[in-house]
Amino acid sequence: MSDPTKVKDRIEQLRKLINYHNHRYYVLDSPEISDAEYDESMRELKQLEEEFPRFLTPDSPTQRVGAAPVETFGVVEHPLPLLSLGNAFSQEELRAWYTRILKLAGAQPFSFVGEHKIDGLAVALTYVNRQLTTGATRGDGFRGENITQNLRTIRSIPLSVPKESPTRFEVRGEVFLPKAGFNRLNQERVKEGQPPFANPRNAAAGSVRQLDPRMTAKRPLDIYIYMLGYAEGKATPPTHRETMEYLKSLGFKINPNNRLLTDIEEVEDFYQTWVEKKESLPYEADGIVVKIDSLERQKQLGSIGHEPRWAIAYKFPAVQGTTRLKEVGISVGRTGTLNPYAILEPVSVGGVTIKQAALHNEDDIRRKDIREGDWVYIQRAGEVIPEVVGPIKSKRTRKEKEFNLLEKIFDSTKQRPACPKCGAEVVKPESEVMYYCSNAACPAQVEQRIEHFASRGAMDIRGIGESMSVMLHKEGLVKDVADLYYLKEKKEQLLKPERMADTNVTNMLNAIKQSKDRPLARFIFALGIRHIGEEMAEILAQEFDNLDDLANTSRERLVSIPAIGPKIADSIIDFFRQEENKTIIKKLKDAKVWPKQAAAKPEELPLAGMEFVITGSLEAFARGEAKARIKALGGTTKDNVTRKTTHLVAGADPGSKLDHAQALGTKQLNEEQFLRILNKKLPNDNGS
Ligand code: IVH
Repeated sequence: MSDPTKVKDRIEQLRKLINYHNHRYYVLDSPEISDAEYDESMRELKQLEEEFPRFLTPDSPTQRVGAAPVETFGVVEHPLPLLSLGNAFSQEELRAWYTRILKLAGAQPFSFVGEHKIDGLAVALTYVNRQLTTGATRGDGFRGENITQNLRTIRSIPLSVPKESPTRFEVRGEVFLPKAGFNRLNQERVKEGQPPFANPRNAAAGSVRQLDPRMTAKRPLDIYIYMLGYAEGKATPPTHRETMEYLKSLGFKINPNNRLLTDIEEVEDFYQTWVEKKESLPYEADGIVVKIDSLERQKQLGSIGHEPRWAIAYKFPAVQGTTRLKEVGISVGRTGTLNPYAILEPVSVGGVTIKQAALHNEDDIRRKDIREGDWVYIQRAGEVIPEVVGPIKSKRTRKEKEFNLLEKIFDSTKQRPACPKCGAEVVKPESEVMYYCSNAACPAQVEQRIEHFASRGAMDIRGIGESMSVMLHKEGLVKDVADLYYLKEKKEQLLKPERMADTNVTNMLNAIKQSKDRPLARFIFALGIRHIGEEMAEILAQEFDNLDDLANTSRERLVSIPAIGPKIADSIIDFFRQEENKTIIKKLKDAKVWPKQAAAKPEELPLAGMEFVITGSLEAFARGEAKARIKALGGTTKDNVTRKTTHLVAGADPGSKLDHAQALGTKQLNEEQFLRILNKKLPNDNGS
């Protein structure tokens, strides 16, 4: 064939044919032709493209594995964050979610869609002008890795879509290795002397993050699309179920097990069916995902943090296994806690290899009578750290050893118990069950404090995770969290061979700089004060203007705050009394890391000028969060009703504040009315 127009026509014809059969085989699982026939068309197409390279296009089916290996993956900013999911582990938790959303979104009943929660890796695929342009991992939800070349090798991902598709759109789905492929891959790895992957999720993640796309192409990866991120240039359907049908019509692979469920009882039936049948599935699923079908109502419910309110993962029951507990190990936590954990004879539980499990604390170990050398039951629930449930006493040989923490950490040269990481003395505060390492400079503690300070709910410094924290501390570049803000003076040292690449250093220093403007609540949380979690930090940030204010406060003032008891008050006082912490705080202030309480918001905020008092308990959020939301909308909150109070929010079991408000004629809101005010006024925080 030498007439170019004829060649071009034949090439187009072959591509159409191959794409059609690809779709039948990989997406619909229903091939129409033999492998040999398919291979023959592919061979002809390749040959023509080689002879006439000017007709080669990137969306040709011959080009799935065309790209050269890369050194690192680029970063993709997600135009809309990729959310994660809240979990329900029991029928009660599912019902509690249901009651909550009914309350929040008006009482009309919902229809749901039930899907399997597949154990794989979330990806976002972007199509522009009919072509797949970007494929990215979830990353931290805001930015992921650009793994387009690798995703192109997955045959069930269309490289191009029909002309009636939206001009620009993003779909999201789960890339996974079917059980059969996972087992085959592991067998091969063992044969080649490589360690097997512990679970299909790791295997999928490892496969799509190969720097050489040819490696990815060898893995039998598959995908199910579970959501439309956004679409421009075309109207899309109003429900999730219809959206999935629509995406199917554009060539995407949708899980045929998805079901429309018209009420919560049907959701429970769907769940029960799969609890019983999940082993028969060709892929690993650790639960079901329940989604509200109406996109309008999804939008109305929005999300809280990284989790949409309109969907929940209802996890399958934990899988149990038995193995031998070889030894109890001790790790040192961020606040210095000495945490016992079980070192196990490796065992596979529900397809995951477990070598270690949580043991909580010494009292718990005694109560359950767990001894070193025991055969034990272990349990794994989804991604939660596996735990030791208890001993199998019938298997005892009398050689088992009772556990005693102080004996375990006894240092014979020092003739006393010692921190297993730094050798310092250990202490046990009176009211607590845990032992602590007394040395605030203990490397294990410092490294974890740096990691915590930089973590997402805290100062959110991208690029500083576990290994970076360890490196920065080990190399003496960061001795405490404040040193992070002085790292820019040590750029040369960071660039030393083996440490970090130039762009990574620049990115990290930029991220550190940006973290200076975090809200006060995150800053307080980031300091890692014992017993101060995110919610408590939020409450403290409302009560105090800045860190000095908090540092100089009295125990009396602290315990007068309703949410704060003596244990928390003592921990705060103790933290700010320590010299090392005083130094750190001064260094932070000098580096201009000094978040203040959000300045009084401009008058145009919707709740400006209104003063709220909350009484009784609310279902939808904790008190601290409710207050934070009022504040975010420009309102103020007080603990007691006065003439200035404009609204009293009364939850369940309201106290005497209600009588007081009635006497003063203050406007009262029940929880539903309160939520309506918040939701109407809230900026749209829906992530879909
Ligand atoms: S929906 C906002 N549907 O689970 C909705 N997720 O914990 C978020 N996953 O990152 C995702 N199967 O990787 C959805 N049918 C399914 C899923 C699914 C697995 C994963 C996904 C996500 C994680 C959330």
